[in-house]
Amino acid sequence: MALIPMRALLDHAAEHDYGVGAFNVNNMEQIQAIMEAAVETNSPVIVQASRGARQYSKDNYLRHLMIAATELHPEIPVAMHQDHGNSPATCFSAIDMGFTSVMMDGSLEEDGKSPATYEYNVDVTRQVVDRAHAKGVTVEAELGCLGGIEDGHGAGLSGDEALAFLTDPAQAEDFVAQTGCDALAVAIGTSHGAYKFSEKPTGEVLKMDIIAEIHRRLPDCHMVMHGSSSVPKELVDIINEYGGSMPETYGVPVEEIQEGIRHGVRKINVDTDNRLAITGAIRRVFHEHPEAFDPRKYLTPARDAMKEVVKARMIAFGQAGWADKIPAVTLEEMAKRYA
Ligand code: G3H
Ligand code: 13P
Ligand code: ZN
Repeated sequence: MALIPMRALLDHAAEHDYGVGAFNVNNMEQIQAIMEAAVETNSPVIVQASRGARQYSKDNYLRHLMIAATELHPEIPVAMHQDHGNSPATCFSAIDMGFTSVMMDGSLEEDGKSPATYEYNVDVTRQVVDRAHAKGVTVEAELGCLGGIEDGHGAGLSGDEALAFLTDPAQAEDFVAQTGCDALAVAIGTSHGAYKFSEKPTGEVLKMDIIAEIHRRLPDCHMVMHGSSSVPKELVDIINEYGGSMPETYGVPVEEIQEGIRHGVRKINVDTDNRLAITGAIRRVFHEHPEAFDPRKYLTPARDAMKEVVKARMIAFGQAGWADKIPAVTLEEMAKRYA
C-alpha cells in the first residue's frame, strides 16, 4: 500500500473508538522500529518528521526510507506527517515531498517560539487547508500553546504561564468552522520533552475536562495530544544506571491518554519515550562492551528497545489489530471527498 492520507486513519479510529500513536523519526532505525512494531501488532502507522528531522535527513533520505517502509510492508497503512510546520511554506514543501499529512502550527509565529494571534492562526491554517485538501493531504492545526521547549521549538512557557494558553473550547468550535482543519492539537497542560511534571500528574493537572468539553462541542473533530510521552521510570533508570544523568521526572500517564481517547483524542504524539529507550540501550552496550565499535552492535538493541516502546503504545492506544481492516484510500480519492 502506498502512503495514505492521515485523515483515513483518524476517521477509522473515530469510528472504532481508538487512538493512533504518531511517532517521530529522524533515521532508518526509528522507521524500522515503528514498522516492526506495526507488523507484530497489526497496527496502522503515523510516522512524523519535525522540521529538524527533515533537515537532519536532508528530506530525500527520509522520503526514500518511507517508500522502502511501504514497499517492505504493503499490508500496513502508513501516513507520513509533517510535525509542527511553522509556516505555510514548510507545509507546502512537505506536500511536495510526498507527505500525506501536515501540521500547520499557527499557535506560534513563524519563529516557532512566540505565541501568535488567533487571527494569524486562522489565516495560515486556512491557507494550508486550501492547498492541502486540493491534493487530498490531511491538515492538523493547533490552538493554544504547549508548555516547555524542545530543540528550539515551542514557546518555552513554564507550567503556570502555560495555563494562560490552554485551548478554549468555544474558540475551538469557531476555529474548526473557520479553517476546515481535519485534526486539532489541543493544549491541556502538557509540554514537549522529558521534563513535564515534577510529580505524577492527575487528570486535573492535565485538564482532561477541556478535552471532554471540546468533544461535546465538536464530536466529529479529531483531537491530537502533543507532548504525550509517559517518561517511564524504567527507561530513565537504564540511562542513569549506565552513566547518564537525568533528574527525576514524570510524563503523561498512559491511563490519562486512554481517558483522552474515550473523549475524542485520535492522534497521540510520542517522541521522547523512544529517545529514552534508544539512549538507554546504546549506553548499556557502551558500558558492557567498551571494546565495541561496530554501529550495528549498539543500533540493533537501540532499534529493538524503541520497537518495544512503540508496541506497548500501539496496544495501549487501541490501534493494534486494525491495520488489515482499514480501507486503502488514495490522495486522489480524498481530494475528491474534500471538493
Ligand atoms: O515536537 C517535538 C518533537 O519531539 C520533535 O523534536 O524538533 O527535536 O525533532 P525535534
Ligand atoms: P514528547 O516530547 O512528549 O514525546 O512529545 C512529542 C510531540 O508532541 C511531537 O510533536
Ligand atoms: Zn508536538
